[in-house]
Amino acid sequence: MQRPLIAGNWKMYKTATEARSFLQDFLQLYHEEYAVDVVMAPPFTALHALHNGLHTTSIALAAQNASSENEGALTGEISPLMIKDLGCTYVILGHSERRQHFGEGNALINKKVHLALSHQLRPILCVGELLTERETGQTNSVIEHQLLEGLHEMTAEQMKSVTIAYEPVWAIGTGKAATVDQATEVHAYIGTMIEKTWGVTRESIRILYGGSVNPENADSLFTSPQINGALVGKACLNPDSFAKIIASAHHSSV
Ligand code: 13P
Repeated sequence: MQRPLIAGNWKMYKTATEARSFLQDFLQLYHEEYAVDVVMAPPFTALHALHNGLHTTSIALAAQNASSENEGALTGEISPLMIKDLGCTYVILGHSERRQHFGEGNALINKKVHLALSHQLRPILCVGELLTERETGQTNSVIEHQLLEGLHEMTAEQMKSVTIAYEPVWAIGTGKAATVDQATEVHAYIGTMIEKTWGVTRESIRILYGGSVNPENADSLFTSPQINGALVGKACLNPDSFAKIIASAHHSSV
């Protein structure tokens, strides 16, 4: 099994100035020797500041989105080339907030995944069901659909650069994380489906859990061998709580 991965999705929080100050505090708490891969995904406007501050560490940088085009007359868009140039090695794609508020569908997300990979960016593809979908027994079929379409025409080799984040929409920002059993069940389903569809081994793919992860529930979530890390929202904005979640992942993996 690979090292766990803990990614912090800052969403639309923190200016570049605030990002510099966050990093100063966080690096005091961060243990480079931990057996955990750490990724920070600040807003586009703070990528440069974080890249400068992270170059002495092994912490990787991610963007929270990227365009499906390399360049063009596309006001307000940011291309994968541009984020690569700012030091990103990962990009979060298909987050439920992009799907819900910006109308992103699986076909567009698939185009973004392919373009990101063509620039050697590692996509973190988010999938997850709505509460009503869970309540009506559609969780697995919704996720299967998101994966089949979002990862359409992906080779087994390309799949090794993809990370999946299972983020049940009802758990995001609600303080109600999925239970270990709930997350484990879906992660196992995703793992089996990926093995069958793309012919890669479960061990070569990391499946992260996201949705109200915090220092209190991290230990128990990471007891599951199916949970290979976390995509953290709110709790990554505080240096202390983000560092604690990373420490939990480290302790679970040694
Ligand atoms: P919260 O941790 O704030 O629930 O957000 C999760 C998330 O959306 C990470 O991408």
